[in-house]
Amino acid sequence: MVGGGGREHALVWKLAQSPRVTKIYCAPGNPGISKIAECVDIDIRDNEAVLKFAQVTGIDLTVVGPEAPLADGIVDLFTASGMRIFGPSKAAAEIEGSKSFAKNLMLKYDIPTAAFAVFTGAEEAKAYIRRQGAPLVVKADGLAAGKGVVVAMTEAEALAAVEMIMCDQAFGAAGAQVVIEEFMQGEEASLLTFTDGYSVAPMVSAQDHKRIFDGDAGPNTGGMGAYAPAPVVTPDLLEEIMRKILQPTVDAMRKEGRLYCGCLYAGLMITSDGPKVVEFNARFGDPETQVVLPLLDSDFVNVMEACIDGKLAAEDIRWQEGSAVCVVMAAGGYPGSYAKGAAISGLEQAESSGAMVFHAGTSREGSAVVTSGGRVLGVTAVDTDTLKAIDKAYAAVREISFDGAQYRRDIAHRVIERMK
Ligand code: AMP
Ligand code: GLY
Repeated sequence: MVGGGGREHALVWKLAQSPRVTKIYCAPGNPGISKIAECVDIDIRDNEAVLKFAQVTGIDLTVVGPEAPLADGIVDLFTASGMRIFGPSKAAAEIEGSKSFAKNLMLKYDIPTAAFAVFTGAEEAKAYIRRQGAPLVVKADGLAAGKGVVVAMTEAEALAAVEMIMCDQAFGAAGAQVVIEEFMQGEEASLLTFTDGYSVAPMVSAQDHKRIFDGDAGPNTGGMGAYAPAPVVTPDLLEEIMRKILQPTVDAMRKEGRLYCGCLYAGLMITSDGPKVVEFNARFGDPETQVVLPLLDSDFVNVMEACIDGKLAAEDIRWQEGSAVCVVMAAGGYPGSYAKGAAISGLEQAESSGAMVFHAGTSREGSAVVTSGGRVLGVTAVDTDTLKAIDKAYAAVREISFDGAQYRRDIAHRVIERMK
């Protein structure tokens, strides 16, 4: 396993349940992962170093968590060396790495998404904004660790976003181009899928909570919690999303000579005009993975190998009834600057209450587990329905404490509102 956050902890946890797995190594891993896998200190921005470790150790299957190694071609490197790896090639991962590529692909193949324009010059971008008027969404074209998107409700905010991305180069080369999009209204949902480049199999739908504060207030984060399934994605809607979005996208990528193999994640807006794509990711979502994988009933290794071997159509992927809820506990100050090194207590108590505690930003200091990132833990519970899963997750959250800990009290609130 390549990576060391909450998503990778959930991936390792699920892989370890396969009777086909004898041993898992994780680079770099974290203290939570170290209970089920051997963590190895490799720089995961160095794909050659990861390959060398896999070859020397005789790894049968490598799984990639984060987008950066994919964008840098780790899958191409492994494949060329005859090593098995789950994930898209560099050319296929561009669906996440370049927003203009993804938008032009959707335009060409008639896949529903927000109207857009691409600019390489700040003056043209600003002139376009003045012509269109707000609201608009301004996005850095390249990878910006989830921070390159500004939803501008006023013209001034949109102009300031262009200034920040293109002139001040807040995201470096990722901001050499901007995509300016029509503002879409609706409820968001995440649909992660498995694909071998030909068939696509949906996972259970999920919903992320991107804002830091309750009621979806405050700045965007990497994701403060998630739940699955998302009731907004009804069976009919799922059928429509697969027919109009996921299958055409996988077919389009193949036709473009960029066969997509791995997990393809569609961020969706459910508008009054039907489902539309907000973005594609070339990897599992974080924290969506923490709620989706606990509901997977099939052997995870079999599913991944079916993708790699182009045999997904024959694979029977089963999902459990019930719901999963993940509450992210973050460091005080996050998503701004935050302290590190706070001792975490109550982890065992939380786990003995029946929840799973996925480690995201933790490290070991002597015998203590301390905070080392903005998102620290993903406390996850599964139960027969969402309300029970919510109660179980929050009961576990209350067992855990560290200095400055913050978390949202309203994860999965949309399910509760729907029931009312
Ligand atoms: P992204 O990183 O592309 O997922 O964008 C981050 C967030 O910005 C999304 O989860 C949406 O909440 C919001 N967003 C992105 N694009 C749009 C759009 N065209 N209309 C409305 N909201 C958007
Ligand atoms: N949860 C959003 C993402 O993984 O990009």
